[in-house]
Parts: sequence; structure tokens; C-alpha cells
Amino acid sequence: MSSLVVLGHDGSPPGGEARELLERASLVVGGARHLAAMPVPEGVRTVVMGELRPALDAIDAELDRDDDQGRVVVVASGDPGFFGIVRALRKRGRRPRVIPALSSVARAFARAGLPWDDALVVSAHGRELRRAVNACRAHPKVAVLTAPGSGPAELARELFPQTPRTFVVCEDLGGPHERVVSVRPAEATTRPWRDPNVVLVLDPRRVAAGGEPGWIAGPRPGPSEWALPDAAFGPGRPVFGPEVRAFALAKLGPRIGDMVWDVGAGRGEVAIECARFGAAVVAVEKDEAACERIRANVRAHRVKVAVSRGTAPGVLDHLPEPDAVFVGGGGPEVARVCASRALRSVVIVLHRADRVQAAIEAIKRASLTAHAVRLQAGLVGRSPTGVFVVWGERRVDDRSVARPVRREAPPSVTIAPLPEPGGLR
Ligand SMILES: C[S@@+](CC[C@H](N)C(=O)[O-])C[C@H]1O[C@@H](n2cnc3c(N)ncnc32)[C@H](O)[C@@H]1O
Repeated sequence: MSSLVVLGHDGSPPGGEARELLERASLVVGGARHLAAMPVPEGVRTVVMGELRPALDAIDAELDRDDDQGRVVVVASGDPGFFGIVRALRKRGRRPRVIPALSSVARAFARAGLPWDDALVVSAHGRELRRAVNACRAHPKVAVLTAPGSGPAELARELFPQTPRTFVVCEDLGGPHERVVSVRPAEATTRPWRDPNVVLVLDPRRVAAGGEPGWIAGPRPGPSEWALPDAAFGPGRPVFGPEVRAFALAKLGPRIGDMVWDVGAGRGEVAIECARFGAAVVAVEKDEAACERIRANVRAHRVKVAVSRGTAPGVLDHLPEPDAVFVGGGGPEVARVCASRALRSVVIVLHRADRVQAAIEAIKRASLTAHAVRLQAGLVGRSPTGVFVVWGERRVDDRSVARPVRREAPPSVTIAPLPEPGGLR
């Protein structure tokens, strides 16, 4: 009967069982470096895995041989069940036996001497780097599986200088060129790096003591409460209450990997609530005193929010692409720019009915589907205040439409540079 075994490889010499499987194999499939490291007996057919599809086709053909005697061994890096080939094989209806080795992520954290049950693991391998970057902006302990062109230098270019982090770059773990170095992002932007590599992106102030113990692997679950009461954001008159904020948050849908802008951030309520959901957030506010209040609220809520002081829409030019944008202030031009930049959704709160149509038009011109409601809510016994919420959603297939060209930051913009981190220890 045909058989399929996936053998994890982490640089250790293969054990007796692995050797036996290779001896008996009719086809061995794997990346060039994995095949080179395996004692594949002479005469056994090999397929070097480059593109995934032809390799999977070769595996299928061997397993579906007429004599049903195909014995396929696939060699893959680390734990093949973790961001590896096991998923692709299952998708093709195969039920492989898996013999895992140590995952590159486990080994990377071991090399750094850090616990990793609280780490967020993200992959930029065959995916856009943007989401991995946003995860690193928002979380103190992230492992990034990289790919050529989406590696330590590209990550560092996106994070430096606004996000102070230490990079632990782990190259060729278990291989002949293994090297583990701890660098600042500024240095990581210019150095050449060897593939494959995993990058630990760490906030040294928060991980030096090991990080938070918890009951669930990965980042902490979302907040136990949201649409927080006004009093949670200190003194000052809110422009709208938690009920309207709840609706806005529902339409923004902030989550890990997202970038959210809160434009006209006021006390930073929406920005902070989005950060509590795990999104990376920029609060845009023109008033310096308001920026100070936002920073104080951000500290009090122990979240990460970058504060960008300046006037929209000009200040928005240099900001990272947003998945969702909340517009709490500014005129029709701000609404138009925000709608055109938003990859997924834009939410605009208006106090005047005569502004609603212009906002709807701005959203439609940016090729989003527009909706509008009037919301009236308030504490029982007090007269409620009403606002208009206009929002736009981009259909999933259209999300590549809003791909703005990034421009250099104009000199008037101030995102306060944060202090450079020290080493890990
Ligand atoms: C498709 S993922 C496979 C991950 C693998 N299943 C694991 O458990 O390590 C490929 C990525 O894993 C990382 N990786 C795999 N082997 C590595 C190694 N020996 N050294 C450093 N990183 C490695 C790199 O980021 C690489 O681009």
C-alpha cells in the first residue's frame, strides 16, 4: 500500500526511523538544503521542492501509482505541522504520518533564552509583510517567519524609528551557517541577512523579565469589556458617548494585524479601544494639549498607540496604510482622503445632517459601499443627543484598490521618536 511520511528537519542528524524510511522510499521530496542534508540512498528518485504545486503533483502521482506501491517521504523544515506542508497535503486529501523536528520558532526563543507561550507568531512567508509589521507595532513579543524580500531589513525599515524594538535575528538555525544576533532596527535595515531566518521582534522593556504568564498561548484574548464609559478617558467633554463608539467599533472591526487610524482623536477613546482589540493604531490630532491627553490615556490603559500631531488630510500622507479609519473630525476633504486610503472600512461621525450627503458621496467616490444611520442614545433620564454615522465598506475583492503611494513625512509632522532600546539583557 502507498504511504506518505513527512519528516521534519532541524539540522540534527536523522535518527534510525528516519533513515529506514528513506531507505525504503520510492520518492523523496524536499527543499534543496533538506535533501542535501538527508542520507537519500542512490537510485531513489528525488524531487526538489521549489514551487509548491509541481511538488504536490509529483507526490500525488507517486501515491496514485497503479501498483499502489508508492512510498513517499517529504522532508520539510522544523515542525511541518506548523506553517508547513502538512496543511497543503491535507487539502489534497492526503493523511500523512508526521515526524516533527524542533520548530525554528521554538529554537529561536530557546536561543534568546525567553519563554514563548505568550508570543505572537506571524508569517510573512508568501504573504504580505504589512500584517506582520502591524503585529510587531502592537505586541511586545512577536516571532516573524520571514521570506526573501520580506526579511529583517524590510521589517526594520517599516518599524524604525517609531517603534522601539530589539531584533533577535536567527539565521539558518541548526544549519552550517547558524548565527543568532541581537540588533537594533536601525542596524537591521542595512545588514545583509542569510535565508532562512526567523526574527524575534521584542519590546525590551516588556520582555526582559520574561513577559506575562497566562493560561492561553499567544497574545492575551480580547478585552472583557469594550465601549468603555466616558469616565475611563479622564476629564474633558466627549463628542459622543460609548453607545456611538460601540457602533463605530463594530464597523471598524479592529484586530491583530490591522492598522487603524483615529483621525481627530480627541481624548483617544476610539484609538485606545482599537488597541485593546490588538490592532496597531495611530491617533491623529492637531491640538498639542489633546495629544498630551491621548498619551496620558494610552499610558493609563497600558496599550500601544502612536500619536501623530498635525492637521488632516496633509498629516495622513506619510502614515502606514490603514485597514480601517475612524473620522471624528475634519471636513469633506478629510472624509474623502480617509475613504480613499482605507483598505477595508471607514467610519465617519457627523453632528450635522447637512454634512451627511457629502460624506456618503466621498465614500462612494472611493469605491466603497456607503451606509448611514442616525443614532440617538444616552443615559435614561437625560435627554439623548443624536449623531449621524456614515460608514463605508470595501468588498473583499476590491481591497487592493486602495494602495496609496507612500510619501516622505512632511517636516511639519511630529510623531515623537521613542527612545532607542538597549540590549535584551
Ligand atoms: C514555511 S515556514 C516553515 C516553518 C517550519 N515549519 C518550522 O516549524 O520552523 C518557512 C520559514 O520558517 C523559518 N525557518 C525554517 N527553517 C529555518 C531555519 N533553519 N533557520 C531559521 N529560520 C527557519 C523561516 O522564517 C522560513 O522562511
